[in-house]
Amino acid sequence: SVLEYNELTLDHFQNPRNVGVVENNNGYGKVGEAGCGDICEITLRIEKDAIKDIKFRVYGCAGAIATSSVVTEMTRGKDINYALQLNDDDVVEYLGGLPEKKKHCSLLAIKAMRQAIYDYLLNRRLKESQISSREDFDIIDNEIMQEIISRSNQ
Ligand code: FES
Repeated sequence: SVLEYNELTLDHFQNPRNVGVVENNNGYGKVGEAGCGDICEITLRIEKDAIKDIKFRVYGCAGAIATSSVVTEMTRGKDINYALQLNDDDVVEYLGGLPEKKKHCSLLAIKAMRQAIYDYLLNRRLKESQISSREDFDIIDNEIMQEIISRSNQ
């Protein structure tokens, strides 16, 4: 039940920060959790590699709502390299713990945020590139994945 959550988590559940859709967004991510069916959508606006704005919408449990709220707070105004280094443990730590069976909720928004940054980087590259085949796209897609891995290790 909701009583298992600590005070900070309940606060983020009852007063979630940054709910909605960023206007003029240039990155979009949507992730579903197969186990429970919850869905998180993130939109963000990146300028000069900094997250100027980030918002979320969730269809899901209290844990999914609270952790999504936290992910937007942790990443708003931050460099994308920093955002890509965050993981679900950082979210749980920020909240001061989550009930054991709710730990998986903390992955939802992290994944959606990463996907939105991927979407931004991919679209930026596609604008600069000449794509004439599926292989061209796959090469770029692969390069962006490598870029994300290197950025998240910086
Ligand atoms: Fe699955 Fe919360 S129960 S995201």
